[in-house]
This record gives sequence, structure tokens and C-alpha cells, in this order.
Amino acid sequence: MERPAMAEVRLHVNGTVRTVEVPPQVSLLDALRERLGLTGPKKGCDQGACGACTVLVDGERICACLALAVQYEGRAITTIEGVADGDRPHPLQTAFVRHDGLQCGYCTPGQICSAIGMLAEHAAGEPSAVTGHPAEVPELTAEEIRERMSGNLCRCGSYNGIVDAIAEVAGR
Ligand code: FES
Ligand code: FES
Repeated sequence: MERPAMAEVRLHVNGTVRTVEVPPQVSLLDALRERLGLTGPKKGCDQGACGACTVLVDGERICACLALAVQYEGRAITTIEGVADGDRPHPLQTAFVRHDGLQCGYCTPGQICSAIGMLAEHAAGEPSAVTGHPAEVPELTAEEIRERMSGNLCRCGSYNGIVDAIAEVAGR
């Protein structure tokens, strides 16, 4: 059988340039996890429905399972492994611990990356489906947080803690 063509891709991940050789159909999630050993982004549904694979690209959140690695050459990719500032955890990481926002922890990396992207979207004045008047910058109520984080599923009992942790960081 003929071997599939391989593509060499230079991925800028967590501040470091890494080169991977992958077939063109390989997802960014598989390239990160299986080629680069970054297992923070999790594979849940592998079809864009659960948010466990969320990473940041140029500061915006995406589902890495729906992205092709070859499309992301040269873009700044941040996984959960790269959100801390050296030894200092990201404020959302400490808030998740403080509010017990993790139980099995499987969804946690995606939740935290998504929350970082979501807070930036809110700071840029972007409305959500529950925002009253789109022209006004919405207050980050629990309803807004839940709507904006609705692409990230948590099947454990920690979801209230996740919302509280995000609300705490949003209120700073
Ligand atoms: S694994 Fe990507 S959205 Fe579920
Ligand atoms: S902490 Fe278990 S699915 Fe979220």
C-alpha cells in the first residue's frame, strides 16, 4: 500500500517552535498530543461537541480536534501547559483549585483555556446569545458565563465551582 504523503509543519507552541511531520489530514489535537507529547488538551468527542480539546491560537479559543495541524503553521498556539507564568500558575488555575472546579479533571484543561479566551472576548466587548442589548458591554453574570462556556461540557459535579472560579477571576 502506498504511504500517505507527509507534510512538515512548524508549530509555535507555548513559545517554542517545534517541527512535526504529519499526514495532511492529522488534526492539531493529534499533532499536539501524539507528536509533541502535550497531553493537556484532551480528546473527548473528537468532533467539536465537548470542548475538552480547547487550545488558544493567537489568543482565540478553538477546538483542536476540528483543526488540521497543517493550517496552523506559524500561529501562536497555547495549550494548558503554557498558560502559567513560569512557576506562577495562571489566576484561573488557582481559582479552579480554590473553588474545587475539578472533579475527574478531564475537562479542566479545555475549560481553563476556553475561559482565558472567553474573558478576552468579553473584554473586547463581544456579546453572547444571552446579552440583553448587543451594543452594551455585558456584565459577566453567571448566566453570561454559562452561555459563553457552553461549548465546554463537564459531566461531573464541579460545574458550579467552574462558574464560581471564572466569576472570581472576571471580577478582578
Ligand atoms: S474533543 Fe474536540 S470538542 Fe470534543
Ligand atoms: S471535572 Fe470531570 S468532566 Fe469536568
